[in-house]
Amino acid sequence: MVDCKHAIHPAYQEEHQAHKQNTGDTSTIGYKYEPEPFAFRRDNSWLGVVLDPKIWRRKEQKPSSMTVLLFCFQSTVLLLLLLTMSVLLLRTSRALGLSALQRFCGLRQNRSVKSMAKSTSLRIVGGLSSAETGDWPWQASLQYNNIHRCGATLISNTWLVSAAHCFRDMKHPQKWTATFGALLKPPSLKRSVKTIIIHEEYRYPEHDYDIALVQLSQRVEFTSSIHRVCLPEPSQTFPYNIHAVITGWGALTNDGPTPNALQEATVKLIDSNTCNREEVYDGDITPRMLCAGYLEGGVDACQGDSGGPLVTPDARLMWYLVGIVSWGDECAKPNKPGVYTRVTYFRDWITSKTDI
Ligand code: ARG
Repeated sequence: MVDCKHAIHPAYQEEHQAHKQNTGDTSTIGYKYEPEPFAFRRDNSWLGVVLDPKIWRRKEQKPSSMTVLLFCFQSTVLLLLLLTMSVLLLRTSRALGLSALQRFCGLRQNRSVKSMAKSTSLRIVGGLSSAETGDWPWQASLQYNNIHRCGATLISNTWLVSAAHCFRDMKHPQKWTATFGALLKPPSLKRSVKTIIIHEEYRYPEHDYDIALVQLSQRVEFTSSIHRVCLPEPSQTFPYNIHAVITGWGALTNDGPTPNALQEATVKLIDSNTCNREEVYDGDITPRMLCAGYLEGGVDACQGDSGGPLVTPDARLMWYLVGIVSWGDECAKPNKPGVYTRVTYFRDWITSKTDI
C-alpha cells in the first residue's frame, strides 16, 4: 500500500527543492497529515513538524483533503485495479478450465492411448496394477454397508450407471454409498445414494438387460480426477477388434482377493457371432450384450468388477462407455471372454430416466 501519510505532494516538492538550494539543507521532505502538513526527515528519521512560516509560507496552500486523497490514492487505486484485474483473470481462467470439465466428457488428464497398448498384460484378472488417482476419473465403487460390491461409472454430476445384478436382493438406497478415487480405502470422495433404478426387463438370474442407474443424494463437482465419461450415441458402432479398457476393484484371480487399488486391463471387442459360437457362449449373447477379452484367455474382468466400465477412446482421446461389466464363465478362461451390457442399446433408456 502507498503510505499516504508520508508521500511527498508535488506542490511542496518544488518548494523544498528551492529551499534546499538556498540553504544547503540536506533534508528530505515528506508530507505529513498530522498534526501538521510538513515534516523533515534526516537520516530517515523524522525531525518534527516544521513551523517556520518563513520557509513554509504557503501554509494556507495546504492541499485540500480531496487533493491529498486523490494524490495518495492514485497509486493505491492503480494497484487495487491491477490486483482486481489479476484476480478476475485468474478466476476466469479457472472457470474456463472448470467449465471445460463440465462441458467435456471422457477426458483423462495427461494421459494418452499409449499406456493402453502397454497394459496388455493379463486380467483385472491379469491387469496392470493400480491406476493412480485421476487415471479413470469416472470410475466409482458401489458399497453396501461400506463393503465394495460393484463398480459404476459417472455419467453426470448426480448419476452413475452400473449393472442391475449388483442390486439383486439389495435394493435399499440407504445402505449404498458410492466412493471415488483410485483407492477403496481411503476414498477421495464419498456420496450416499438417493435412488436406484433397475431396468424393468431385468430378471434375475438371467443376464439380459443388466443395467441400473444410481442417483447420488448430493452432486459431485467435477475435478480433473472425478468427472463423467462420454456416452455413445444409440447409433454409434464400435468396430470389433479395437482395444478397450476395463477397470475395477474386482478379484485378481477367480475367487481371489479384492485389491485396494483400482486395476486396469486392455481387452479387445469380440463380435457377437464369434461370441455365440458353440465353444464360446453357445448362443447366450443377446443384442443387449457385448463380448470383450481374448479367446485365448488370460485377461478379463472378474467378481467385483461388475457394473464397472469398458471404455474406448475416440480420435480426440475422449473416452466413451461401450460396456458395463456383466458376466462371464469364471474369469479369464480360454473361450470364455467377459460379457458386457451393450451401452448403445440402452442409450435412449438412460435418457428417459435421467434426461442425460
Ligand atoms: N458378475 C461379476 C460381478 O458381479 C462380474 C463378472 C465378470 N466376469 C467376467 N468373467 N468377465 O462382479
